[in-house]
Amino acid sequence: SPNGTALGTATSDPAAEQLFFEIFLTPRDDPYPAYRRLRETAPVLLTGDGTLVLTRFAECDAALRHRSFGKGNELAGFGLPGGAGEQQRQAQGRLGHSMLFANPPEHTRLRRSVGSVFTTRHIQDLRASIEDRTRKHLGQLARRSGGDFVDTLALPLPVNVIADLLGVPEADRMVFTPKVRQMVALLEPAADPEAITAAAAAEADLVAYFTDLLAAKRADPHEDLLSRMATAPEQARLSQQEMISTSLLLFGAGFETTTNLLSNTLHALLDHPDQQAALRADPALIPTAVEEFLRYDSPVQVDARTVLHDTDFAGTHLKAGQVIVMLLGAANHDPDLVEQPDTLDVTRPEPAHLSFASGIHFCLGAHLARLETQIVLEHLLSPAYAAITRPTQPQRRPGIALRGLAHLPLTLHP
Ligand code: HEM
Repeated sequence: SPNGTALGTATSDPAAEQLFFEIFLTPRDDPYPAYRRLRETAPVLLTGDGTLVLTRFAECDAALRHRSFGKGNELAGFGLPGGAGEQQRQAQGRLGHSMLFANPPEHTRLRRSVGSVFTTRHIQDLRASIEDRTRKHLGQLARRSGGDFVDTLALPLPVNVIADLLGVPEADRMVFTPKVRQMVALLEPAADPEAITAAAAAEADLVAYFTDLLAAKRADPHEDLLSRMATAPEQARLSQQEMISTSLLLFGAGFETTTNLLSNTLHALLDHPDQQAALRADPALIPTAVEEFLRYDSPVQVDARTVLHDTDFAGTHLKAGQVIVMLLGAANHDPDLVEQPDTLDVTRPEPAHLSFASGIHFCLGAHLARLETQIVLEHLLSPAYAAITRPTQPQRRPGIALRGLAHLPLTLHP
């Protein structure tokens, strides 16, 4: 493996398999103790139907980088008893034209077509406009005691930032935001059939919207990413299907996970006043603290791959079609990765994690997500707001793949 740790050997273990099903089918507020039990009893678990379940950093990282593993049927029910399987797989067919579900060489072409926009240099140019928006949203939050951090800042900030980049008109943003939030049931292992029907309908509305928007950009291009895509020279242009899926993916990925990172981060800071004090005392820690928040409570808890070609991995012969599930939240709390993994410590010099995955699908928006979170912390922990209180305990959003808060009521004190 890349960091030199020897990979474990797959074992079958009915009790551990039961624990894995439980983790997926009955999500809990605090999944980390169950992750730990699974990692300690069967770190490389082979289930009865041939799904490989990974909970340590070394195996998760190696699997994410493995050339014989890629995108295929890994999201079709995750090998769960009673999982939504086929219905989910069909609905994903449409998003399937995006880079997220593609393998090389299509993946390489799709990712390159928009990659330059998300480099560190381009993202740094957005700092001033993200700061303006952050001040505006924070001002709104400060005016009301017990206002919702999610609705007032954690959701609208990243929605507006990605919408500015893409060129989604102001009036449409908050109309299509809830549809993305419905669509993500397609990524949830334990989504029920009604949620998947609603997700498929929301996805159809988004496809219709972006079809029209791309046509409008082609007729009347502006300085934005959708216009660039729609008017690219013939030989570099994506197909119509690919352009629609790419728009949909960038819009959705651009806020859904960042919203959850912001709410998980605030929640963790309020649970750990000493850590909040440390950041207030030394704001230079904020960039590495953001990595620690990503590690400590990742917005994406589950990733998966399909075996594309028969291969040996972790002492096991795997056949094409077998599914590999990686519990990223468990890998981030692996004691071989960091000391005292269950402790939030904003002074860790270089916290490593898999919250943006690893290998060729490594999050394209990582620089953007980091910058937005850094800016929010810089402003929220500034002397302008001497204290932050949480009048009630917040509510978690349902699900296991994506982890965040539904609401987080806060009061900002001058
Ligand atoms: C891919 C996490 C923010 C765009 C991914 C993957 C993860 C991830 C885990 C890999 C999925 C896989 O392996 O199948 C996150 C987290 C975020 C975040 C935790 C926020 C905290 C963003 C933002 C964008 C974005 C702001 C903006 C456009 C993408 C895209 C991919 C991706 C396009 C697909 C890359 C590929 O398939 O090559 N993200 N993401 N993400 N992310 Fe993010």
